[in-house]
Order: sequence, then structure tokens, then C-alpha cells
Amino acid sequence: MLPADFTFLARLVHRRSGIVLTESRRALIERRLAPAMHRFGFKDLSQVMRALRLGSEPLAAAVTEAMTVGETSFFRGADFFRRLGDDIIPALMEARKTEKRLRIWSAACATGQEVYSVAMILDSIGLASEGWTIDFLATDLSGEALARAERGHYNFYETQRGLSEAHLTVWFKADESGHAVTDNIRRTVTFRRFNLLDSYGWLDDIDLVLCRNALIYFDGATQTSILERMADVLAPEGVLCLGDAEAPPKRLFQSLSGNGIYTRVKTAQPRLSAAV
Ligand SMILES: C[S@@+](CC[C@H](N)C(=O)[O-])C[C@H]1O[C@@H](n2cnc3c(N)ncnc32)[C@H](O)[C@@H]1O
Repeated sequence: MLPADFTFLARLVHRRSGIVLTESRRALIERRLAPAMHRFGFKDLSQVMRALRLGSEPLAAAVTEAMTVGETSFFRGADFFRRLGDDIIPALMEARKTEKRLRIWSAACATGQEVYSVAMILDSIGLASEGWTIDFLATDLSGEALARAERGHYNFYETQRGLSEAHLTVWFKADESGHAVTDNIRRTVTFRRFNLLDSYGWLDDIDLVLCRNALIYFDGATQTSILERMADVLAPEGVLCLGDAEAPPKRLFQSLSGNGIYTRVKTAQPRLSAAV
């Protein structure tokens, strides 16, 4: 790929997703373009680039999706999930005990392992049977990842990563190619395609936001703008969870004793974006 083509591609992907493509990973980036190239019937990358420059919207969407990294696993970050189950969710339940309702958003859910891990924790606490309503939302930019998440079927390699025999027995149904999440767990989650760069106007009063291992692919300004909007959609006692390599600005969030778990910094004045 010509340097000018790389620059054009990097700008396009950044504008559409916030993801930063670096020149040093050019070979990998070119390999990631191959499936979209074949799907759209192009013979080489120069044809792909020509169509992108002519403004092909479906191709631009496919190429942007191809640049996402969907690496994930069940209970990724064992310490984080232990804290979530032992401390964070019980504290949120205490804060919400009158309305008995929790709103949870997995904001870059990839193929769903993260959101189903949280759902298993809630099910083991027995929230639904105790009359709680859980609004469980999982979103991602990648339609392909979302389709897999919604299906809730995982191969043996994927279920080996993070799940115990006990998890598989209680919350999965085995078949010849892997394991499917049981319907009572799968149906609790609403999956929706959502770009973290888009308007958050439809989101409000969320108790728990998981946005783990997605911000690392964005530049600092994009990270800050996303985190500002996440602060606005969080409920007052709400909790934000980030990946180990991610940290929010101190003016917005304060750490809740590590593991990538944060609460909003209390402000005396309403935030500007909330006031307008
Ligand atoms: C590495 S996965 C993280 C999955 C999960 N949260 C975890 O920690 O295991 C990053 C996800 O972010 C998604 N993503 C990247 N850019 C996005 C954007 N602008 N809006 C929404 N999701 C995005 C990717 O599609 C990918 O599924």
C-alpha cells in the first residue's frame, strides 16, 4: 500500500471509529483488509483504495470493522470479576434497593463473553428471582461480533478461556461444536450496534458501564470525549469499569481501589453537557 493510501485509510478509520492505525503495523493492517477485499470482489488493495476514495459507504464500513480488535474471553481479568461480584454489585444493589432495578451497559462487548460473565454473576446472586429488574445492554461497532454475541454460541477454545466446569454445567448447553449460553441468560441481554463516537442521548442513569479494552485503540482526545459522555450517562452512584491499561481523567472519575473500577467525581455544579 502506498504511503498516501495508508494516510487516507488511517484518517478514514479514525474519523469513523476513533481507532488509530499506526504505520508500524501496516503489514497486519493490509492482512486485515483481505476478507473485505474478497467480499467486495476486488482483486487487490489498490482497487479497494480507489473505491474508498470514490466514497463507497458499505466498503468504508466494512474496512472500519475490519480494523477492530475483538480479543476477549469469559471473566477476563479474574480479580476484576471477583471484585465486581463480591463488592461492586452488592453495593449497587444496596443503592438501588428501593427501585430494585439495575441498568448495566457493556459498551464494547465484542462477541459477548464479558456481558455473559456479568449475567452469570447476577444469576448466581439470584437477582431475577428476588424480583429485581435488570436492564442489560451490550453494544459494539462490529456487526459481525454482535451477531456472534447475540447467538451466544462458543467453540471449545473459547469456553476453555475463563469458564469452569461448574459454569458450563449451570449456564451452557453442550453440542458437537462447543457450548451455547442457556436461553435464560441470553435473553436477559439486549444487543445493539452502537459506535462510541455517536450521540449518547438515548442512554441515561446507568448503574454499571463496562468499557474495557476498547479505549486503548483510540487517541487521547477521543478517549476523553467518550469518557466525558460516559460520566454524563452514569447514575450518581454509578460505576465505570475500564481495562487494566486504561485510565480516565482524574477530573471526571476516581478509582474505587483498583482493578479498573471507577466512580464519578462529585461536582458541585451540574456538568455543562448535562445543563444544556
Ligand atoms: C478488545 S475488544 C474488548 C472486548 C471486551 N470489552 C473485553 O474487554 O474483553 C474491543 C471492542 O471494541 C469495539 N470497538 C472498537 N471501536 C469501537 C467504536 N468506535 N464503537 C464501539 N465499539 C468499538 C471492537 O469492535 C471490539 O469488539
